[in-house]
Amino acid sequence: MAFADTLIAWYEDHKRDLPWRGESDPYKIWVSEIILQQTRVQQGWDYYLRFIDNFPNVKALAEAEEERVLKVWQGLGYYSRARNMHAAAREIMTKHNGTFPDTYDKILSLKGIGAYTAAAISSIAFHLPYPAVDGNVIRIISRIFGVCEDVSQPAVVKRITDICNEQIDRDRPGVFNQAAMDFGAMHCTPKNPQCEECPFQSECYAQNNQLVDILPIKKKKAESKHRYFHYSVYLSGNKTIIEKRTANDIWKNMYQFPLTETDSDVFPDTPVFSTREILSHQIIHAHFYVNNVKRLPKPSENQTVICFDDIENYPMPKTMTLFLGYLATR
Ligand code: ADE
Repeated sequence: MAFADTLIAWYEDHKRDLPWRGESDPYKIWVSEIILQQTRVQQGWDYYLRFIDNFPNVKALAEAEEERVLKVWQGLGYYSRARNMHAAAREIMTKHNGTFPDTYDKILSLKGIGAYTAAAISSIAFHLPYPAVDGNVIRIISRIFGVCEDVSQPAVVKRITDICNEQIDRDRPGVFNQAAMDFGAMHCTPKNPQCEECPFQSECYAQNNQLVDILPIKKKKAESKHRYFHYSVYLSGNKTIIEKRTANDIWKNMYQFPLTETDSDVFPDTPVFSTREILSHQIIHAHFYVNNVKRLPKPSENQTVICFDDIENYPMPKTMTLFLGYLATR
């Protein structure tokens, strides 16, 4: 049996029941794919439903304030993805008359949409034969077809994409892509794959060469950068100061207590609360210092005085919500 037929037969028996399965609306497929790029299916499920509830279509997303989009996204991380989706929705309204583009190249040209997402939307919504190559697909293809080079090299991903282009089911590209992803996520897993019950057992290169634990080969990524964030929490009655992050940096356009960044953990005061947040390329060491004051300092540009209880209305990174949780129980 052809690779695609075996894969799809497995999928028919094992596929996950997900809220976006069977969906043909490219907008909803787009939302689910962006959320799933960064999040496990279990957590993504609730966010997906909430996002669609708040922004049911391209127009609703385009017309929303960016701050509201970030608020709905809060907790998912990778906030640039939410900002990019918002920008892309506006682009669809202005450049495509509000209709989701229906070719791979046009979809790929939208802000925040890369080869993977463009292929997923093209194949699932428009039945176009583009393989969606994510980490799961890289793993199954490198194991079954014996790709033994470093998959962190773009040329190797290109080779894997070429194999997928040969193997994709041209009548059912969306089904093929989702079958490959589910097979990687559920069966051909990074650790303890179910090789004994695998439909590809006899032909799998890794299985036949005792390389299942070795493939895919991935060179270690560069070490994360450590950053030290010191937050000054000014409290005067029920008032406080927050500031908006406007630089091209993590958490752009989200809110925080006034921040001083240093090159090390050394700081003259003792924090009341500390936490660490591990991001994809950075580790944030966050410290909070509470100052009960008669008068708040004069807010600078980007800063505003707010009622403390209103802080919930602002989009904030997890570091901030962890601190607020600590304050509430103190
Ligand atoms: N991971 C990301 N998108 C997916 C999809 N459509 N099906 C299964 N797993 C996925």
